[in-house]
Amino acid sequence: MRILVTGGAGFIGSAFVRMIVSETGWEVTNFDKLTYAGNLENLGSVEHRPSYRFVQGDIADEGAVNALVGGWKPDAIVHFAAESHVDRSILSPEPVIRTNLHGTFTLLEAARRHATPRFLHVSTDEVYGSLEPPLEAVETSPLNPSSPYSASKAGSDLLARSYFVTYKLPVVITRASNNYGPYQFPEKLIPLMIANALEDRPLPVYGDGMQVRDWLYVEDHCRAIRALLERGREGEIYNIGGNRSLPNLEVIGQLLALTGKPQSLIQYVPDRPGHDRRYALSSEKLIRETGWRPQVDFENGLARTIDWYRGHAAWVERVRSGAYRDYYERNYGARGAVPR
Ligand code: NAD
Ligand code: DAU
Repeated sequence: MRILVTGGAGFIGSAFVRMIVSETGWEVTNFDKLTYAGNLENLGSVEHRPSYRFVQGDIADEGAVNALVGGWKPDAIVHFAAESHVDRSILSPEPVIRTNLHGTFTLLEAARRHATPRFLHVSTDEVYGSLEPPLEAVETSPLNPSSPYSASKAGSDLLARSYFVTYKLPVVITRASNNYGPYQFPEKLIPLMIANALEDRPLPVYGDGMQVRDWLYVEDHCRAIRALLERGREGEIYNIGGNRSLPNLEVIGQLLALTGKPQSLIQYVPDRPGHDRRYALSSEKLIRETGWRPQVDFENGLARTIDWYRGHAAWVERVRSGAYRDYYERNYGARGAVPR
């Protein structure tokens, strides 16, 4: 089996590549533009394996995508590449639209032209938008995205589905909840709060901090994707959730307790515009059809993640140098938060 992974130098994509290269004999090509979020250091453990190779490129570059898909003829494309951060999508929507919409279109077209036998599109629970309790999204729930990021993901998700309906391209779509774990770029809630807490810096909580997210350990997400790559039904959508909904303040409280830092580090800052209050989803279909279940509970996963960040201070420092400082100032300076 030959698989083309897009965005394999990012947080979830690199976890998936590490898992596939170490657990299977499949050939893997990682196609990644190496934006600020892409980091080949994440792949140090597999980079010398003969079944793995890296190709730098942009999924919105039709020539490069066609040369790779037409020349190498993968058995499957697993499409992670995206601009993945809501706050950045609010500050600068253009790259989000270009990569998430046009990039996905370019890949789908290449897969159609070269008759790729499998296209797994990695989408998100954010496409369902905010849900009042006790509602949980199922795969047929309406889409109601709020941010440029989630709207671009909803658009690409629907486009992928249309390639199945119209052209019979064998597409499978996954919609996962909030991932956390090692190698996550410290712009997302958990790694940002861990990195700040470990340096005794303030933890910027948006609004009242009572927004609810469902937390999924990254390796559980990757196992679900592998199961669906092998056994997911063509044209179907599958939710992937950690079955662990928590308000942000509770996540931060646990994180402070585990790092041994005081609650007084919490700094309330103005809310994210259009902030979704609550995500919740049912993974019943995935469980019923594949037998998958999350294996890492939140307390364990959070402790493992904190240990990883404690042991990788140099990694954090490297990814936070340069452009990260400008982003931090643009996003948090305007909120009156303490600068890094
Ligand atoms: P990430 O930001 O850590 O990584 C994205 C990767 O894509 C990077 O390596 C980057 O260099 C690459 N990339 C960006 N634009 C590209 C382009 N034009 N061409 C080629 N490569 C490009 O993202 P992540 O958190 O690992 O998310 C991966 C996927 O999973 C995304 O599609 C995201 O929408 C989805 N998702 C993420 C979460 C989450 O909680 N992080 C949850 C559900 C779904
Ligand atoms: O639900 C899946 C989605 O989860 C993925 O599709 C996205 O790629 C991923 O970024 C994530 O989106 P969120 O917006 O939920 O994640 P983020 O980590 O940015 O924020 C989680 C919650 O924490 C959210 O309610 C906003 C809040 N937050 C976040 C940051 C970065 C804060 O209060 N302060 C912060 O500094």
